[in-house]
Amino acid sequence: MRPLSQYIISNQTIFLRVDYNVPLKNHIIQDTTKIKSSIKTINYLLKHHNKIILATHLGRPDGKFQKEFSTAQLLPSIQEYFPKEKITFLPDCIGKNIHSTIQKSSSKIFLLENLRFYKEEEQNNTHFAHSLASVSNSYVNDAFAVSHRAHASVHSITQFLPSYAGFQLETEINQLKLALNPKRPCIWIIGGAKLDKINLINQAFKKADYILIGGALSFAFLRAKNIPIGQSKTDTKSITIAKTILKTKYAKKLILPQDFIVTQTMSPAAKSSFVKYNEIQPNQIALDLGPETIKIFKHFLRKAYTIVWNGPLGYYEWAKYATATKEIGRFLGTLTATTIVGGGETADAMHKFHLAYNLTHVSTGGGASLEFLSGKILPGIQALHDNEKKFKLK
Ligand code: 3PG
Repeated sequence: MRPLSQYIISNQTIFLRVDYNVPLKNHIIQDTTKIKSSIKTINYLLKHHNKIILATHLGRPDGKFQKEFSTAQLLPSIQEYFPKEKITFLPDCIGKNIHSTIQKSSSKIFLLENLRFYKEEEQNNTHFAHSLASVSNSYVNDAFAVSHRAHASVHSITQFLPSYAGFQLETEINQLKLALNPKRPCIWIIGGAKLDKINLINQAFKKADYILIGGALSFAFLRAKNIPIGQSKTDTKSITIAKTILKTKYAKKLILPQDFIVTQTMSPAAKSSFVKYNEIQPNQIALDLGPETIKIFKHFLRKAYTIVWNGPLGYYEWAKYATATKEIGRFLGTLTATTIVGGGETADAMHKFHLAYNLTHVSTGGGASLEFLSGKILPGIQALHDNEKKFKLK
């Protein structure tokens, strides 16, 4: 892999894949960590007189143009970090008009429209990747958080351009390596709302002595055991996977919640109460872990030498349901263990509650950090290795 830190590329047009898939609320960015993490690479490229094409996905728009996922709403925030540069927003990510604007404009930084407005992005389509690449001279991956996806702008595009690992990607890899061969006991905490993370649990068993489950994943396991979960979030696919996991010999490594905070109304001020894990009523929705579960989690964490945490444990956006996330974050800061916390929302929570400074590393990658730590070579990183062999630089 070619780390950008060891090369000087100048007077070029650079396709810079970033991951600005940031948490948004009413079009306001809730946490700018991902944007900040790309500043070093952007400044380095600017210093060497390059034109930079910033390319990112935002959310999961399913290959269709959807205004709510437009990257245009990110522009003001990115602009704040580069007050001397005029960043030009381009309303598409491929096409002749886009290319000629980049060539003719005096701007040094461009922001492309959401890559996932094209289904070809997630299909890793070679033609689409070629179109993305066609106006650039080099490619830089500074998007660790999406490097576990074999998508066109992460993977296929490296067939067409000499490619580099940006500073952010390099730092992430170096930091996460600390937990790749973990000192044991090693505990993983997996929470959050993305149910597809359940696929990673089988991988996680290889590294973790225990896996503490919180967030929406808990409900897939409860349903797999035929325990009612009321209105709490789950889906049939995750329940099926949970059933399979529970049948494996590793199931004893899973520590599931013993109690929850529930409510009947999705509103920050609505009345809530504590219930045991098997007492959620049909009209209730569980939004955070209860005190008994927090106590049990701490009991396991206290003995760990390495802790990997991905995904908030409750609906931390509302103070009433942020207790488990906050308490566990605070507790990790008191331990001497190596603590690696990953994922956009978990990073957001740690910054919001001022807990990040006590942790070994806060990764921008959610699924990406879990896959990396489970020992998989991420497609985006593999592509950079292959590219190094394919494009010999003079
Ligand atoms: C993330 O936030 O984890 C990355 O941006 C990847 O997003 P995805 O899970 O929608 O591919």
